[in-house]
Amino acid sequence: MTQAKLIDGKAFAVGLQQRVAAGVARLVAERGPKPGLATVLVGDDPASQVYVRSKGKLAAELGMASFDHRLPSTTTQAELLTVVRQLNADPAVHGILVQLPLPSHLDSAEVLLAIDPAKDVDGFHPMNVGRLASAAPGAPLDFPVPCTPLGCSMLLQDALGSMAGSTAVVIGRSNLVGRPVAQLLLRADCTVTIAHSKTKDLAGLCRTADIVVAAIGRPNFVRGDWIKPGATVIDVGINRIPADNGKTKLVGDVAFDEAVQVAGRITPVPGGVGPMTVACLMYNTLQEARRSAGLPFAAVA
Ligand code: GUN
Repeated sequence: MTQAKLIDGKAFAVGLQQRVAAGVARLVAERGPKPGLATVLVGDDPASQVYVRSKGKLAAELGMASFDHRLPSTTTQAELLTVVRQLNADPAVHGILVQLPLPSHLDSAEVLLAIDPAKDVDGFHPMNVGRLASAAPGAPLDFPVPCTPLGCSMLLQDALGSMAGSTAVVIGRSNLVGRPVAQLLLRADCTVTIAHSKTKDLAGLCRTADIVVAAIGRPNFVRGDWIKPGATVIDVGINRIPADNGKTKLVGDVAFDEAVQVAGRITPVPGGVGPMTVACLMYNTLQEARRSAGLPFAAVA
């Protein structure tokens, strides 16, 4: 049995980062602004701290300014909104990322609504959600699109070229991943089904799909015999589970060892979708800095 071709997200992300760095250098050389990314982290969740630190580090490596805001877990809604409004008003800031999830006493919908849509590099503001939902097939994505979905879409485009007429099953309906991925696939002329925890015969539905995107957050949930032979599998899951050696390991939402025997192409975990998220955040920040200077959208992806 032939094994699926691996979709190397790590290599694609490195290439995208290089193109973003070149775009930053060009913008600054043309007397444009140095793109600035502000991250806001409320509380001390260790995983979120790691993510936020890696975002700041990469922004600096690509020639951008980065502004780190760490707020205590006791921060009130009013205090957080004040920080967001200050960042909205700061001309050195072109991208604002409020790390989710927020502590449960805070209202994340109100916070996302307060972010200037032109600085919303996560693409979570209702204005940008609506722009994506109403984007015509093939029209340019000249507004910020959520980073992980954008990364999935870039990898699929690179691996498959045209996806017109393909059937796609997206497992997961979150605002962060499932719904925006489905919108991007629809824009790419796929026939899209969004599946979720209440879907009947999920395995049978998956077996009809040319493209499966798994974004459930459950380790090894999608089995090899759910995959149509030759299908393309995009695994968005990042789950840490105990390993045989007493340590832990990262696995996706797809049982990779099984699916790799059946699929035509598959993203590994780690090294698949994961590295694309932060690279797309940098891409979005560059685009917003360009727009703030009145420059047209430049597709560097
Ligand atoms: N938490 C997990 N992923 C993300 C993301 O892409 N953006 C934000 N703001 N928070 C997250």
